[in-house]
Amino acid sequence: MNKLSRLALVVSFASLFPLSAMAADSKGSVEVVHWWTSGGEKAAVDVLKAQVEKDGFTWKDGAVAGGGGSTAMTVLKSRAVAGNPPGVAQIKGPDIQEWASTGLLDTDVLKDVAKSEKWDSLLDKKVSDTVKYDGDYVAVPVNIHRVNWLWINPEVFKKAGITKNPTTLEEFYAAGDKLKAAGFIPLAHGGQPWQDSTVFEAVVLSVMGVDGYKKALVDLDNAALTGPEMVKALTELKKVATYMDADGKGQDWNLEAAKVINGKAGMQIMGDWAKSEWTAAKKVAGKDYECVAFPGTDKAFTYNIDSLAVFKQKDAGTAAGQQDIAKVVLGENFQKVFSINKGSIPVRNDMLNNMEQLGFDSCAQTAAKDFLADAKSGGLQPSMAHNMATTLAVQGAFFDVVTNYINDPKADPADTAKKLGAAVKSSK
Ligand code: GAL
Repeated sequence: MNKLSRLALVVSFASLFPLSAMAADSKGSVEVVHWWTSGGEKAAVDVLKAQVEKDGFTWKDGAVAGGGGSTAMTVLKSRAVAGNPPGVAQIKGPDIQEWASTGLLDTDVLKDVAKSEKWDSLLDKKVSDTVKYDGDYVAVPVNIHRVNWLWINPEVFKKAGITKNPTTLEEFYAAGDKLKAAGFIPLAHGGQPWQDSTVFEAVVLSVMGVDGYKKALVDLDNAALTGPEMVKALTELKKVATYMDADGKGQDWNLEAAKVINGKAGMQIMGDWAKSEWTAAKKVAGKDYECVAFPGTDKAFTYNIDSLAVFKQKDAGTAAGQQDIAKVVLGENFQKVFSINKGSIPVRNDMLNNMEQLGFDSCAQTAAKDFLADAKSGGLQPSMAHNMATTLAVQGAFFDVVTNYINDPKADPADTAKKLGAAVKSSK
């Protein structure tokens, strides 16, 4: 089936289930579009669904498979064009502003909840600014993910004779060589564009440092995008790619995570939603697996905030459901249980300061400590690969150039840096 007819099928399925299709005693029905479909992530989103249903609303699950959310965003756009947007959708970063500027997001429905639940004081300004449009909340932030992590199976490391977790790119390559020699997949990696760019941005951060990362991937400065530091980062990226799973082309991130969990691979570069798979497999952080900052990036935190945006709806029951979801999401209990399942950390400041007492594991405690420290030092930077730094159009330009570069055996780093500058410029 081609892409277009698949999309048409999704849209026509959606219209088979109008909002009125709900239990007679329901207070209202809300459809929630998201892409949390891996085993661990489903367990996390089920926590929200269960609470919203307990509160008397009908949850219509609009899950669209596809890591990183690009398929979900395509579906969302076609739904919006067809005049049939869902009540709630997972949208992130600058795209929230873009959607709000179309007039489709609701600037009123969250006002009372935000006020009575004191969102302004619960949230860091960086977080609340992301989910506000012209001063009004148009989305509720759910959690914070750190993207620049390296996941390690210590048992595999031991079998390969590696005695130390890598903290530099040289140590990373040395570990990769030992893993290869011992017959393991050194780096579990699914060759989908968003995963390629997740690795790319980690390498950029390692090679160019926080300032270079910010100039190139956040400020989109042409000199930084095309300069010698970027050429160096691209050269290192090509070397990192030599350790990637040979069977990983087009593979989903969770299937690659499973290879590290099952002891077939030694490492994976992935945001901390990868932890949701370890948790679902009943593995313990610090014992069965290690989370370390990607080599050379321990003083930085590339953040990725999941948010649920609210679309204007005619039905009062749906509006009440949107408010219920928003209230549940920022509640302390949900923030804890969801993030424990999802691998993330809470968005609430009071909780970030209290992670050990709240029962979070060592990876989450490190993430929260680093988030707070890096917010002060400037090391806290938005993830490009996860829609936090740029619009989807600019992100798409990065994805194309980076994935072509990784897959082209003849690609030259200096030419690629030039291409990157040109592609970003034309997509702005
Ligand atoms: C990210 C999203 C995460 C996780 C990941 C893999 O963009 O923020 O919550 O779902 O994609 O799909």
